[in-house]
Amino acid sequence: MPRPEWKSEQEVADVVAFLLGLKRDVPKEKILQAKASEIEKGEALVQAYDCRACHTIGEGGVSGYPELTHVGRKIRPEWERRWLQDTQKVKPGTFMPTFGFSDPELDAIVAYLHSLN
Ligand code: HEC
Repeated sequence: MPRPEWKSEQEVADVVAFLLGLKRDVPKEKILQAKASEIEKGEALVQAYDCRACHTIGEGGVSGYPELTHVGRKIRPEWERRWLQDTQKVKPGTFMPTFGFSDPELDAIVAYLHSLN
C-alpha cells in the first residue's frame, strides 16, 4: 500500500473518520448469539468489521499493514486484547482505529486470531 505523505495529524484523523463512516452496520448481537464456537464468532466479526480493509488474513485482504495470518504466534492474547480494546491508548496516533468492542466481541476476535497460527 502506498504511504501517502500526510500533512497533519488532523488530515489522518479525517481519513480515519471517513473510513469509519463507511463501516457497514455490524450485526454484532446476531453474531454473538449464534450457535457457533467462539472462534467462528470471531471470524464472523472480523469479516463484519472488515479488518481486511487494512490487513491480510489468510487468503484475503490488503497488504502494507501487519499481516494477521500468523499473529497468534507473535502476539500474546492479553496484549492483543488490550490493543483491540483501545489502540490509541496503547499507541497514540496509530492509524488503526479504536472500534469500541464489547467484552464478548473481544473474546471472540482474540480467540479467532489465535486459532490461525
Ligand atoms: C484503518 C486500517 C485498519 C483497520 C480497519 C484495522 N487495522 Fe489493525 N492495524 C492497523 C495498523 C496500521 C496496525 C499497525 C499499528 C501500528 O504499529 O501503529 C494494525 C495492527 C493490528 C494488530 C497488531 C498486529 C501486529 O503485528 O503488531 C492487530 C492484532 C490488529 N491490527 C487487528 C485488527 C483487527 C482484528 C481489525 C478488525 C476489527 C483491524 N485490525 C482493523 C490498521 C488497521
